Amino acid sequence: MIDVALFGAGRIGNIHAANVAREQGVRLKYVVDVNQDAAQKLAARHGAQPAGVAKVFDDRDVGAVLICSSTDTHADLIMSAAAAGKQIFCEKPIDLAIDRARGCAEAVRRAGVTCMIGFQRRFDPTFAALKSRLDAGAIGAPEMLIVTSRDPGAPPIPYIKSSGGIFKDMLIHDFDIFRWILDDDAVSVHASASCLVDPAIAEAGDVDSTAVTIRTKRGRLCQINTSRRAAYGYDQRFEVLGTGGMLQAGNHTPTEVVASTTKSVSRDLPLHFFLERYRAAYANEIAHFFAVLAGKEPLRTTIADGLKALELAEAATTSWREGRVVQLEAA
Ligand SMILES: NC(=O)c1ccc[n+]([C@@H]2O[C@H](COP(=O)([O-])OP(=O)(O)OC[C@H]3O[C@@H](n4cnc5c(N)ncnc54)[C@H](O)[C@@H]3O)[C@@H](O)[C@H]2O)c1
Repeated sequence: MIDVALFGAGRIGNIHAANVAREQGVRLKYVVDVNQDAAQKLAARHGAQPAGVAKVFDDRDVGAVLICSSTDTHADLIMSAAAAGKQIFCEKPIDLAIDRARGCAEAVRRAGVTCMIGFQRRFDPTFAALKSRLDAGAIGAPEMLIVTSRDPGAPPIPYIKSSGGIFKDMLIHDFDIFRWILDDDAVSVHASASCLVDPAIAEAGDVDSTAVTIRTKRGRLCQINTSRRAAYGYDQRFEVLGTGGMLQAGNHTPTEVVASTTKSVSRDLPLHFFLERYRAAYANEIAHFFAVLAGKEPLRTTIADGLKALELAEAATTSWREGRVVQLEAA
């Protein structure tokens, strides 16, 4: 039996707590949130106790922590958890500052603990099936990747202001998809971006629509297009062109019903947003975390992956701000 503490009883914390509660041999012992009401409610739902930070790190029985609190808390909590010898699952991004994120990676390495970063898209059944076929040689060697990643609507302006910008907040997932699918390092990044959805986003210093082009060490190309607005719902697709064909991963819909009439052929809109679209992925990533701790699986989304995605987000931000191609040192 492994005792677990969860930080952050917000949107993603609620999802992860429910998935932890389903795991055999795992007990959610503490929920920590500066919003005591939120901590109390989530703890009560799963038979856990609301607690403060010190109680978690002083409790020798707590084997693992899940960091699901606001982004600006991640780095300090990773450092404290590593120092206390706890195994770590942390939501993306590690931090908004690359130096602090590197410091976290060093602390994790020194402590010798596991630190999984929440890139749940790798655990989505459709995306994972595409990756398996790609690895099995279904389309030969991959040459180009096109990623479409559009939200149904923009988050509130206070969120935008503290998010670190669209590249670190939103595209960080797409940069991880790029690295995972092409299994290659970026040598150059060019990001073009506009504010087309809401002028208040521009006033907050950010953009809401982006077009990013990445070139890899082996000359492969990736295009990522993102928007904070898609009138038809959450749009999450990608396609890989290889020497022998193409693989495409599409959206998920609530049902597979297709209605054909004299006027049109229609089907359901995509599942509304990330909580619905990635429900299975979130469950799979938490199951993976505990399988790793039990020694049954090698870790698939490491703190090094979190750092690489953050480096790409930083490069894309620079490219957009300075209007130039940013060259990266290929690892
Ligand atoms: N992987 C994904 O798909 C995904 C999706 C959403 C959010 N996230 C990430 O998860 C994190 C949380 O996002 P959210 O959407 O759940 O936000 P949220 O605002 O719904 O929840 C964050 C919670 O953290 C709490 N909190 C703030 N400071 C704290 C502290 N010092 N200690 C403990 N709790 C604290 C807040 O009170 C709040 O309840 C962010 O880093 C975000 O980037 C990842």
